[in-house]
Amino acid sequence: MSTKTILVTGASGLLGSNFSLGAISRGFSVVAQCNDLHLNFPGTPCHVGDLTDISYASELIDKIKPAWVVHLAALTNVDWCEGHLEATHRVNAMIAGRLAALAYGVGSRFVYMSTDAVFAGDSATGYREEELPRPVNVYARSKLAGEKDVLQSHPEALVVRSNIYGWNLQNKTSLSEWILGKLAGGETVFGFTDCVFAPLLVNDLSNLIMDAMQANLHGLYHIATADACSKYEFARLIAKEFGYSGDLIRPVLMANMRLDAPRPRNTYLRADKLVDALRCRLPLMAEGIRRFRELRENGWVQQLKKCGGQP
Ligand SMILES: NC(=O)c1ccc[n+]([C@@H]2O[C@H](COP(=O)([O-])OP(=O)(O)OC[C@H]3O[C@@H](n4cnc5c(N)ncnc54)[C@H](OP(=O)(O)O)[C@@H]3O)[C@@H](O)[C@H]2O)c1
Repeated sequence: MSTKTILVTGASGLLGSNFSLGAISRGFSVVAQCNDLHLNFPGTPCHVGDLTDISYASELIDKIKPAWVVHLAALTNVDWCEGHLEATHRVNAMIAGRLAALAYGVGSRFVYMSTDAVFAGDSATGYREEELPRPVNVYARSKLAGEKDVLQSHPEALVVRSNIYGWNLQNKTSLSEWILGKLAGGETVFGFTDCVFAPLLVNDLSNLIMDAMQANLHGLYHIATADACSKYEFARLIAKEFGYSGDLIRPVLMANMRLDAPRPRNTYLRADKLVDALRCRLPLMAEGIRRFRELRENGWVQQLKKCGGQP
C-alpha cells in the first residue's frame, strides 16, 4: 500500500471529480471509482461498478488497500430521495458504514462526506459540531445515519459536513452553474432570501479535506466559508463576478415554494474547530466565487470534461 494512494468513490460526481484532479496535482496517487462512466484522469486507474454490490466493494478495497478511502459516492437528488427511502438509506448510510468497516479491516483511513442539511435550519447564528442534528427530509436523515454508521465502523474516520458548488465533469448543473446558465440566457433567477448557507467551492473544500487528511484529523468537522449569505445574495455575487446585471436576480421566499422534500432554512455551518486544528484561514464567499470564474478562464472545466470522455 502506498502511503499516498487515495481511493475516491463517486469520482464522476461534482466533488469527486474536482477532488480527484486536485489530489493528483498535489502529488497523491488516485484510484477513481464510479458507477458507470469510465473516467480518464491523468495516470489514474478507474474502477467502474455499483457499490451496493458489497462483494464488488469488498474485492476493490482488498485489492487496492489504499492509504485512504475518500467516500464521495451518494444519492444526492434531495427531491428524488424523498420518494425512495429504502434506496437512499442503502446507498447513503448502509454502504458508507460497510465501506468504512472494510477500510478499517485493511488498515485504510476513511473520509465520509456529509451535509449541512442534517440540521433543522432554525439557528440564526450557525451550527457547530456539538449542536444536535435534526434532519427534515429523507436525504438528510440518510446522511446522518451514514455519519453514525461510519464512526461506529471506523474509529479513525473523518466525517466532513459541508455545502458545495462548482464545475461538473458530467452534464449536470450545480447551483452555481444553474444560476450562470440562466444569467447567460438573459433569464430571471429567483433567489431564496429566507435560506442562508455557507457553501464552499468544491476545489477549496477538496484542499481543506486533503489538509485535514495530512494532519491526521479524525472525528466530525464542519467545513464552510468564513461568511454566510442567503441563496439570493449568492446569486447576486455570481452575477457581479461574471459581469451580469444584478437586476436579473429577484428575491423570493423558499417558504412559498412547493418542493417534494422539505428543506431546512438556515444551514450555515461554523468551522472554528477546523480552523483551530489546522490553523488555517477559511475562504470568504466572494473569494470562492472569484476562483470559480478563474477556473473556467484557466481551462479547468475543459480539463474536467476531458476526464469524463467529453471533447
Ligand atoms: N451537492 C451538494 O450540494 C452537497 C452538499 C453537501 C454534501 N454533499 C455530499 O457530498 C458528496 C458528493 O456530492 P456531489 O454533489 O459531488 O454528488 P454527485 O455529483 O451527485 O455525485 C455522486 C456520485 O456518486 C456516484 N454513485 C451514486 N450511487 C452509486 C452507487 N450505487 N455505486 C457507485 N457510485 C454511485 C455517482 O455516480 P453516477 O453519476 O455514475 O451514478 C456520482 O459519481 C455526497 O456525499 C453528498 O451527499 C453534497
